[in-house]
Amino acid sequence: MSVPEDLLKEARGAINRAYAPYSGYRVASAVRAGSGAIYSGVNIENASYGLSMCAERVAIFKAVSSGERKVREVLVMVERGEPAPPCGACLQVIAEFGDDDTIVYSISNEGNKLKVWRLSELLPHRFSKEFLGIKEGQK
Ligand code: THU
Repeated sequence: MSVPEDLLKEARGAINRAYAPYSGYRVASAVRAGSGAIYSGVNIENASYGLSMCAERVAIFKAVSSGERKVREVLVMVERGEPAPPCGACLQVIAEFGDDDTIVYSISNEGNKLKVWRLSELLPHRFSKEFLGIKEGQK
């Protein structure tokens, strides 16, 4: 399976805008939302390290704050090393707006390596609104 070209283009355009002066590990993300529109994000670090935010959550929050409520595909692009899956916090955020079949692609700019998963493989058991007694479709 290959990465959709439009997601790749968005992430490539974004990765140089990553703000990662502490880790030196730049990440970009591009998500295809319910409307079909694509939103990009980059990691944004902070001198108070724990406040740093991952690229995937920036992209998803941009989508949701633009009115989207579904995430269909998520691309993670790391600038070096092996393609990395989203961190646990990002998986939980993807799960909020995605479903078992949401596709997660990860690509490393180093060597153009690719990994592809379904969300159900990365986060088979997750906390969701059903545990709160909130039904599907309820806001
Ligand atoms: N990071 C992401 O942006 N996404 C991930 O999926 C994993 C980690 C960022 C957070 C931090 O700025 C840097 O990578 C090193 O952890």
